[in-house]
Amino acid sequence: MDHFLYRDGTLFAEDVSVAEIAAQVGSPFYVYSAATLTRHFQLFEEALNWADHTICFAMKSNSNQAILKLLGDLGAGMDVVSGGEYARAKAAGVAGEKIVFSGVGKTRAEMRRALEGGIRQFNVESEPEMEVLSEVATSMGTVAPITVRVNPDVDARTHEKISTGKKGDKFGIPISRATEVYARAAALPGLKVVGIDVHIGSQLTELEPFETAYLKVADLTRQLRAEGHEITRLDLGGGLGIPYARSNEAPPLPIEYGQLIQRTVGDLGCEIEIEPGRLISGNAGIMVAGVIYVKDGDGTNFLILDGAMNDLVRPAMYGAWHDIIPVIEAAPGVEKYPYDIVGPVCESGDTFAKGRPMPPLSPGDLVAFRSAGAYGAVMSSEYNTRPLIPEVLVQGDQFAVIRPRPTFDEIIARDTIPEWL
Ligand code: LLP
Repeated sequence: MDHFLYRDGTLFAEDVSVAEIAAQVGSPFYVYSAATLTRHFQLFEEALNWADHTICFAMKSNSNQAILKLLGDLGAGMDVVSGGEYARAKAAGVAGEKIVFSGVGKTRAEMRRALEGGIRQFNVESEPEMEVLSEVATSMGTVAPITVRVNPDVDARTHEKISTGKKGDKFGIPISRATEVYARAAALPGLKVVGIDVHIGSQLTELEPFETAYLKVADLTRQLRAEGHEITRLDLGGGLGIPYARSNEAPPLPIEYGQLIQRTVGDLGCEIEIEPGRLISGNAGIMVAGVIYVKDGDGTNFLILDGAMNDLVRPAMYGAWHDIIPVIEAAPGVEKYPYDIVGPVCESGDTFAKGRPMPPLSPGDLVAFRSAGAYGAVMSSEYNTRPLIPEVLVQGDQFAVIRPRPTFDEIIARDTIPEWL
């Protein structure tokens, strides 16, 4: 459920009119709902209430400080994948002991920073990384808690660019080699094995791939324990999908996912960690854009928006679908027309949707892209020197800009011209 609903024909974010936000901040912009973020986080809490657990929000999906603070205050840990994300999590007040560090290319500097600031665990993805972490921790006179991320060779049945647990993907170590790698970890100084990590992909719309992967992890847990390793935590990754096309998608619910986890690994007595991103933040945000022109092409009607691929790249990058709705609801029975919905960037790839049925729209009208709270603002750029668009957080009847739109002067001032030029 989300909190972006029409009231008397106008789209609201909780108790705030989206058109009113637009009047104050100008389009395009992102709006997030605190109530939806809270609700989605709590769904996972409820789903895992049978276990000792930590929900580490995959902040790559949305790393605004206000969002991290909101979730951190609810008790969320964080899954970080860079020194920058680690710094953001700490700046938002999240304790190091609640931060897990994922990613295939952690640098020495990133490891050092996390060891200094406190870390729950590193999810180690290769033997070379393990050796470097051992060196860094030893040189600091400390011990790094680790899991090893295993690649269970499972087809997540999602978009190829976001599938991560299949043989040949760059992530983790092949599960077939796990016992060997754990033996090596146990022998290295400065490391303490605490568990196993797995993440097979993102936007999964079925439970079966999770089930296959988690059963393999359960077997591996027993095997590693038999070999003398202390496996007390299982980090089961993120990836539960959301309905992008509301009319015809119904991915599994967090409660069903929690039951699946209980069924597959619940008897091992491990602490359960999960790293959901999209399910918490995705449907907690929309991107609002204004119509600049309606252009009659040769047999195609173009809706040219002030939002573009640099603001929301998912359609251009993955061919992703986002529901697009008018901010002022169409009157019942109004005929819809197929539009190609595009941005102003000078590439044909700057297309959000082709032939999308929409009610008639005119310059100045606003549209909202649903499900844009995850992998939206965080993946935006200033291509075409289009300023990063503002982010707004709504809670009840109040709203605040949580990242302002930079001015052209601010953007230009980041460049420097060498004195010899
Ligand atoms: N844990 C790890 C190790 C991950 O790599 C990811 C996502 C997650 C957790 C969170 O997955 P989620 O619960 O959000 O599905 N930019 C793409 C998605 C990339 C996902 C990358 N990893 C998109 O817009 O669809």
